[in-house]
Amino acid sequence: MKVDPAKLSLSNFIAGETNDPLSAPPSFTNWMRAGAFAAELYEPELLATADARTTISYNGKRRSVINLCSYNYLGLANRPEVIAAAHEALKTHGLGACGSPMLSGMTDLHRELERRVAKFLGREDAMLFNSGFGGALGTISGLLRKTDVAILDNRSHLSLRDGALLARCRTEKFEHNDAASLEAALQRHRGRRQLVIVEGIYSMDGDFGNLKELIEVAESHGARVFVDEAHSMLACGDHGRGAAEMFGVEERIPLIYGTFSKAFGALGGFVAGCKETIQYLRFYAHPYVYSCALPPVVVAAILKALEIGTSETDLRKQLWENADYFHKQLRELGIDTGRSTTYIMPIVIGDRERMYRLGHELRRRGLWVAPVDYPAVPQSKNSRRHAERRFENQGGRLPVTLQGI
Ligand SMILES: Cc1ncc(COP(=O)(O)O)c(C=O)c1O
Repeated sequence: MKVDPAKLSLSNFIAGETNDPLSAPPSFTNWMRAGAFAAELYEPELLATADARTTISYNGKRRSVINLCSYNYLGLANRPEVIAAAHEALKTHGLGACGSPMLSGMTDLHRELERRVAKFLGREDAMLFNSGFGGALGTISGLLRKTDVAILDNRSHLSLRDGALLARCRTEKFEHNDAASLEAALQRHRGRRQLVIVEGIYSMDGDFGNLKELIEVAESHGARVFVDEAHSMLACGDHGRGAAEMFGVEERIPLIYGTFSKAFGALGGFVAGCKETIQYLRFYAHPYVYSCALPPVVVAAILKALEIGTSETDLRKQLWENADYFHKQLRELGIDTGRSTTYIMPIVIGDRERMYRLGHELRRRGLWVAPVDYPAVPQSKNSRRHAERRFENQGGRLPVTLQGI
């Protein structure tokens, strides 16, 4: 029976079709060939910095574009001071850490960053991961045990879900941001240790986690809450301490998790908390113990990015002004951005073919927008397909994003 390739998605190719586990399923390869037009939009080559205006390769040619995809929210990835700090560390510490932090990869720069992150967030200690993904996965799997229950918002990032899978604990989902649904999930597992897992800003929808209400519900059941602040750290709150600061709930969150790959403009993840828990995690978070530490050159750059991000409060202000402005313009154009209230705005297209055609058309016209397809985003009626835009601020420059529209 011939299946229309347009009706298929990545969720269709998870069964082994041949005797060879190292070969791709032929139906997947055929599907990719049939959909080459769509696939061309993925893995684009960036030929310059992840700034608001940059250059990518498109159709084999250099193309100047307005960048609506990068997470460089505060424009720190290419700040001269950040680059200079990296240069300096390259001279003093070389390129790689060349070892797990536990054995040989820890440097004085790593320790300094641990101290600075802990101080910034008002915690006793912090530890660093070489990726945000590893940080979330390692923290969840390092803390939860088989008899525990992880209760995740159904829009949670895969790193969180995979962390729970690796912990082999019971996993439950609740409706996105829905306190009643969380309440029901907690009720179902009374008597067990429960961890509620949410995000500060949801990376695909661009809305805030409903922190206050959800924490209230969790606390009424004696459950703890873990907040993934990947997209909110340094970009939200008066001091940049994320959504927890913005909603005044920092004290009710024992562990703070964030990444250096978004507003910090670098790479890596961290978790901060009391010294006993961090010490425990250092031994039980596998991506920490069994993986090479962040390159010192990156750590030095993050140290500078943290300094700038915490002292130049105008960067955050400008980011939010830009986001408000952009929202307003999109609204006036009648463009559906789902439930976004932040600098992450999904442009909801609702039709797969159209989304990919639009993705190409925008790229041709100099707007770099990334498509996000099912199953990375839900297939539900209202948000069937998203062409996701992340809106970035370039150190106080007005958003140039609208010029290309
Ligand atoms: C919510 C969330 N958590 C964790 C991560 C993983 O972070 P990283 O890209 O730094 O590995 C991401 C990445 O986009 C994310 O969106």
